[in-house]
Amino acid sequence: MKTMELVFLLIFFPVTLSVKHSLKFFTTASSGVKNVPDFVAVGLVDEVPTGYCDSIRKTPEAKQNWTQKMFEDDPQHLEWYTQKCLLTQYDYKAHIDILKQQLNQSDGVHIFQRMDSCEWDDETGEVNGFVQFGYDGEDFLAFDLKTLTWIAPKPQAVITKHKRDRDRAHNERWNYFLTQYCPELVKRYLELGKSSLLRTELPSVSLLQKTPSSPVSCHATGFYPHRAEMFWRKDGEELHEDVEHGEILPNHDGSFQMSVDLNLSSVTPEDWRRYDCVFHLSGVKDNIVTKLDKAVIRTNWVSPSEFPAGPVIGGVVGLLLLLAVCITGVFIWRRRDNGFRPANSSDSSSSDPSSVKDAALN
Ligand SMILES: *[C@@H]1O[C@H](CO)[C@@H](O)[C@H](O)[C@H]1NC(C)=O
Ligand SMILES: *[C@@H]1O[C@H](CO)[C@@H](O)[C@H](O)[C@H]1NC(C)=O
Ligand SMILES: *[C@@H]1O[C@H](CO)[C@@H](O)[C@H](O)[C@H]1NC(C)=O
Repeated sequence: MKTMELVFLLIFFPVTLSVKHSLKFFTTASSGVKNVPDFVAVGLVDEVPTGYCDSIRKTPEAKQNWTQKMFEDDPQHLEWYTQKCLLTQYDYKAHIDILKQQLNQSDGVHIFQRMDSCEWDDETGEVNGFVQFGYDGEDFLAFDLKTLTWIAPKPQAVITKHKRDRDRAHNERWNYFLTQYCPELVKRYLELGKSSLLRTELPSVSLLQKTPSSPVSCHATGFYPHRAEMFWRKDGEELHEDVEHGEILPNHDGSFQMSVDLNLSSVTPEDWRRYDCVFHLSGVKDNIVTKLDKAVIRTNWVSPSEFPAGPVIGGVVGLLLLLAVCITGVFIWRRRDNGFRPANSSDSSSSDPSSVKDAALN
């Protein structure tokens, strides 16, 4: 296996100066699921996990050294999270029971989720906020910040929507949380964690292929922040056909990875040199351009005639796969909830605008 040859080229990319920073909270309550805590909550700043709690550990765990420092310096902030965790937990378990009754469901596995988040544009100061609930893997309710009312994508959520719409005070608290409190937290976290949150790190890029007839995967790992683009080009033009974009996934070390697959089944070997893969990291001018070249593709595939040599090869691909698997439990959960549109809830600490005692779901 040859060492990858990377060519750094300057390609014009509109360099946007303004960056949207985000704070997201993912909350999941479940019933009937074995071997996982029945309540899990995580906070992320710019997709980096900052804090975690679940029904077993209860007190929030700092995931970054600056979160730890914040908890130590500001016990009230820690208390805010502790309350948020405890109260949400009890409320959500009740919500599952209520929904089960309301929807005439049997026992078995049920999952109730919320995602609440805000974005702050560091250039324009513009803020935006989102709250969504999910139930059993489907969108259940979403908050409309413009009208301060709830959107029910499914008929079974309509009763809940009307109850929530009537609770004006509750909706005002969400409005305050999403447009003021949460963006203030984003700024505070960015200031505290700037040495890591505002760094840039370029990835290493490899070409991987399972078998000679599989698509070639351009795989970038180790980049930060998560704002990145990657694509295949032919003769310098971005390709949209025969290309499959993977999601940006977190690595265990706080960096990110992504891959883009190119299906070459209808490309003749002499045309391969016309293709390359471009990685672009937001805010960084130099892109990483990797030419499509059979000699640098990494694979653990062995033709049947070479079989005995098989196990020796493939360490690299194996390692990369391991890396892909070594994502935190948080993200396994997030992927599972993809498409759920987790939604919101109700906790009741008086200091927590997102923790609103909520009669809305019953
Ligand atoms: C956290 O760790 C990073 C790197 O390990 C260091 O640069 C930074 O100063 C630390 N921050 C705090 C608040 O301890
Ligand atoms: C609940 O489900 C049971 C079994 O499917 C059915 O017999 C019953 O009529 C349902 N009740 C309501 C209120 O929908
Ligand atoms: C690649 O493209 C060919 C024909 O265009 C198609 O038959 C094949 O299924 C594709 N392979 C993958 C993995 O998508």
